[in-house]
Formats: sequence, structure tokens, C-alpha cells
Amino acid sequence: MRLLVTSALRSMLLLSAFALSFTANIAFASGNNPCAANPCAANPCAANPCAANPCAANPCAANPCAANPCAANPCAANPCAANPCAANMNPCAVKAITRPVSYTPMKGNHKALAAMGKKLFHDASLSTNGGSCATCHADHGLFKSTFLQPYPHRVSMAKSRFGLNSIHLDEMVQLCMVVPMESKPLLWNSKELAALVAYVEDVQQSFIAEHAAKK
Ligand code: HEC
Repeated sequence: MRLLVTSALRSMLLLSAFALSFTANIAFASGNNPCAANPCAANPCAANPCAANPCAANPCAANPCAANPCAANPCAANPCAANPCAANMNPCAVKAITRPVSYTPMKGNHKALAAMGKKLFHDASLSTNGGSCATCHADHGLFKSTFLQPYPHRVSMAKSRFGLNSIHLDEMVQLCMVVPMESKPLLWNSKELAALVAYVEDVQQSFIAEHAAKK
């Protein structure tokens, strides 16, 4: 009985370890586009092997003299505790807000783009939750001191949500499109993205001026 239980547990753990390393392999193997086969589409932790702890019902409860195979609980260290596909660090979510390799931002007249960007900044149809950029950022709302620095720079939300140590302005716009706006990133070469970037550049200048005036 003991042998059976331990070997069953061992193969469960081996299986889950295999599932984890298998998904990691996909991430590295698919070349240019790591998201062609989204390694997180099939969440290796969807069926958490420790969800139903095999030691919850102690197989030795009936026989107090047997050596309890659950003394060292194989689920104490839950292999899914750090889910590699947790939404925040999903390698495909990071990819979606990171500049593509061959990226040429749409160029145009700054003033005209900024005027269009100002409209988009107040446009709630860009989000799926009824919010617009202005809902959070009107009158410099929610901007922290990092916004004073030239881009790229570190933004705490980019670090905590995506593990990025530094971020460009266009990537920050995409991050806010995906996270607080709960929407999709804009097309990288789109006029919309260029417009929002141009407008936010102006907002950044007025944020810097306001900060300098306060000193
Ligand atoms: C629900 C609130 C919310 C909405 C809506 C939102 N953001 Fe943000 N945004 C934040 C928060 C919170 C931060 C601060 C992140 C930090 O400093 O860690 C931020 C930071 C920023 C930053 C500055 C980061 C820096 O310090 O350099 C920019 C630029 C930005 N957002 C642009 C946008 C744009 C453009 C939109 C609309 C597409 C938008 N945001 C929508 C919450 C929001």
C-alpha cells in the first residue's frame, strides 16, 4: 500500500514537472514570435496536482503502526504556487506591450498628432470598461515622479506587472491600454498610437513645468 501511494505521488509530481519544462521549451523553441504558440494557452497549472491534496485523507489513519507516507507531504511545496502563466508575467502579455523588433513609429506633424491624441485621451471607447485615459490622468492625476524623467525609464507598474526594468512612452501607452483600460494594444504603426504619444509628450512637458514651479 505504502509503495503504491508513494509511487503514484511521485509520478504525479514528475508529470507536473514535465508539463512545466515542456511549456518552457515551447517558449524558447518557436523562434521569432514567441507567442505564435502561446505557452500559456494551456495553463500548466489549470489542473493543479495539489488542489486535491493526496495526503488530506491520511492513508495510514487506519493503521497507527505503519510508517506514514504523508509524513513528508509531497504537496508541501506546491509546484503551482508560482504559476508561470499568472496573467501578470505571461510572456505573451509582456510581448504585446513591448516594441516589435522592426518597429517604425508613424511619423507626422507633432501639433496635429497631439490634437488628435487629446481627443483619444478623453475617448472612453478605447477601453472596454467605460474609462478613458483622462478618467485617471486628468490634471496630471496618478502620474508619479518617474514621469518627470525622459523615456525610457523605470515605471513601478511596468516592473510589478510585467517585470520590465525600463519602458518607452509608446510601450507605457500600450500598457495602460491593456491593464487599466482592459483593452487591446493599439497597432504599433497606427496614427492613434502616434497621436496618444504626441499628446502625452505635451502632458509630460506641462507636468515637468508644474513640478518645477512648485519647487
Ligand atoms: C484606471 C486608471 C488608468 C487609466 C484609465 C490609464 N492609466 Fe495610465 N497609469 C495609471 C497608473 C496607476 C499609472 C502609474 C503607474 C506607476 O507609476 O507605477 C499610470 C501611468 C501612466 C503613464 C506614466 C508612467 C511614467 O511614470 O512614466 C503614462 C504615460 C500613462 N499612464 C498613459 C496612459 C494612457 C495614454 C492611457 C489611456 C490609453 C492611460 N494611461 C490610462 C492608471 C491608468
